[in-house]
Amino acid sequence: MGVKALQQLGVLPGMLEIKKQVEQIIQFHRVSKLRAQKGLKTQSQSLHMVFTGSPGTGKTTAARLVGEAFAIMGILKSPQKGNSKIPFIEIHHADVTSKFVGDAEKAIKKKFNEARGGVVFIDEAYAFIDGDSNHKSDDKVVAAIVQLMEDLREEVMVIAAGYSAEMGKFLDSNPGLRSRFSNTVHFPDYSVPDMIRIAQTMLSDRDYRPDHEFLDLLAKRLWSEKDKNGFGNARTVRNILEQSIRMQSVRVSQIPSPTREDLSFLTKLDIQIPEQEILSEKEILQKAMQQIQGRLFELELKELTAGKL
Ligand SMILES: Nc1ncnc2c1ncn2[C@@H]1O[C@H](COP(=O)(O)OP(=O)(O)OP(=O)(O)O)[C@@H](O)[C@H]1O
Ligand SMILES: [Mg+2]
Repeated sequence: MGVKALQQLGVLPGMLEIKKQVEQIIQFHRVSKLRAQKGLKTQSQSLHMVFTGSPGTGKTTAARLVGEAFAIMGILKSPQKGNSKIPFIEIHHADVTSKFVGDAEKAIKKKFNEARGGVVFIDEAYAFIDGDSNHKSDDKVVAAIVQLMEDLREEVMVIAAGYSAEMGKFLDSNPGLRSRFSNTVHFPDYSVPDMIRIAQTMLSDRDYRPDHEFLDLLAKRLWSEKDKNGFGNARTVRNILEQSIRMQSVRVSQIPSPTREDLSFLTKLDIQIPEQEILSEKEILQKAMQQIQGRLFELELKELTAGKL
């Protein structure tokens, strides 16, 4: 039960932290049921989560899969019985702030109702505390969210996503928020090897096969782009691959009777590499070393600030 979504999450490259949290929640649920059978006391667990991380690190993807798995396994209770679709309801600041005062809270309530048995996903949650917006009404909306998180905690899992620093400010904006979002999961930027694995999965899902040279050039391109502004991790990988698939179509259309192989393979001719941007092997190694040092630093910092966002 819930196995498909869990398997999908399990095979996604990276995402170690969320996989670990999901495992803990599932085991807690299993053990609680066993304890109940033996007449021992049980406690409910808070499922609400904060996901932090840069664009394209898989937050929305993971939120959908986790919600689906928890709903099917019965960790999230559903008001409807049977195999109805598991709700995944997104709340954006813009959806609710255009409303008149009072209507915004009603809109939030409606969204939570629709989400019963599934997930409320609040993307860029810190928009609710942004200085530019209408403070009073935003405070009320956040208060309504806190209340609904509590009232519907067995049926609705709230996942709030955004960048780390801003999410810290969001959690501090209302005294009820931090204690209700007991799980914070960070989605780190993908490493180049992770992104190559992601590319391989994306291509095999679409029945394409990259050859060695293609993957080598893709890795070079990712090394040179990953530190630039606007880099979108797995989303950038997807965009590059979509461009490559179009280039392959143009190339293959020149072949009189293309074979199955011709139609499947992506080669070095199918990836655009701006000449001046190719890094030398030495530069790539230097970047890899920097990345390892950065990651070590992050891990040390995490040990020091364990538990704090
Ligand atoms: N580990 C992964 N394996 C395969 N595909 C992935 C993985 N992570 C992300 N993707 C893909 O990358 C794209 C972007 O992912 P997603 O939308 O989940 O990122 P996000 O963190 O929500 O980004 P944003 O902060 O911009 O909303 C999607 O097409 C998703 O399927
Ligand atoms: Mg997203």
